[in-house]
Amino acid sequence: MSDLIAPHGGSLVQRAAGEAAEAVQEKAAELPPLTLSVREMCDFEMIAVGAFSPLTGYLRRADYENVVENMRLADGLPWPIPVSLSASAFEARTVEAAGGAALYSPDGALLGILEQPEAYGYDKRREAKQVFLTEEEAHPGVAELYAQKEALIGGEIKALRFARRELFEDAELPPAASRAAFAERGWKRVVAFQTRNPIHRAHEYIIKSAMEIVDGLFLHPLIGWTQEGDIPAEARMECYRTILKHYFPADRVLLGSMPSAMRYAGPREAVLHALARQNYGCTHFIVGRDHAGVGNYYGAYDAQRIFDQFEPGEIGIEPLRFEHSFYCLRTGGMATIKTSPAGMQERVFLSGTKVREMLSNGEPLPPEFTRKEVAEVLSAWAQSLKG
Ligand code: ADX
Repeated sequence: MSDLIAPHGGSLVQRAAGEAAEAVQEKAAELPPLTLSVREMCDFEMIAVGAFSPLTGYLRRADYENVVENMRLADGLPWPIPVSLSASAFEARTVEAAGGAALYSPDGALLGILEQPEAYGYDKRREAKQVFLTEEEAHPGVAELYAQKEALIGGEIKALRFARRELFEDAELPPAASRAAFAERGWKRVVAFQTRNPIHRAHEYIIKSAMEIVDGLFLHPLIGWTQEGDIPAEARMECYRTILKHYFPADRVLLGSMPSAMRYAGPREAVLHALARQNYGCTHFIVGRDHAGVGNYYGAYDAQRIFDQFEPGEIGIEPLRFEHSFYCLRTGGMATIKTSPAGMQERVFLSGTKVREMLSNGEPLPPEFTRKEVAEVLSAWAQSLKG
């Protein structure tokens, strides 16, 4: 294990109650309840399994302020996005007075406890502007932020269990398990691929370009909350398994899943995605075109440039930057402007909106865009929606 890259901040910080479960359960019974939002619940699991190392819980004020303003925790360690917990003013007072809270999922399951709470006020518009680079509520991450309650509460968590969510057992690999799996395979250089979409050929092209220079691929779809309209995790997992089966060597790939929520925060989220993958044990991270973007809020390569704002070595995992890739009619294969002289009209590229439109009209997706086996999974899923 010691050969693997160190987690962000130096060590893997896990917050499962473990042997203290009974004591935590008893303590929870005495504490005021707090119900998490879906995003907060996803973050709860990310913290508990160590994917958000070195965080021990939801951010306290000093960390929150420095993260929003400077993309750093209070001690200076890079951290791009607040991992916060919101509460009403009444809840905030009650939790502070009680010295903690029992944390519940939106559907009422006890997940764990919050300890040493610190309640504080915050300015949602400022957070929106700094983190999402827009104050528009049309942005799905900003809408989530504006829907939060009026105060924040920082504090440490202890986790008893995670909320019910789709479990993909073969891909259930929290950081301790992915690290053990990489070590077992003897992989030292591992590239992670974040995705919230079914893998299409442009994805496959950049993934395979990266695979040429590392020992293995950690295919790591995000399966926590995504906005309505995105293809659900269940259908996507079938696409991932299908493409792996037909088009990737089994001994070079590990499929995992990340229980995080999407924020659609573009550049800042690219850094968060990278740091989390470092915690999972990866040394390289793919950042392509408009990573974690939505609509036209971010420039196509802003999520790559943001890494330049940190000093060398501050972020251990190395971003691998890729151009917009497409099927090229001129060269008869996948390409980018770095590898083909083709003009715009010779590039086959479909937007996510166009793909969804084709699927809902029952039109087949072209083989230049997606592998036929994946297209079949997607059209079966689209048909199933029509019942
Ligand atoms: S994301 O929200 O997870 O970034 P998506 O699943 O579409 O969305 O993208 C996964 C990764 O592939 C991101 O790094 C993204 O920048 C990259 N990517 C997606 N499409 C392309 C493309 N056509 N060319 C280059 N990179 C791409």
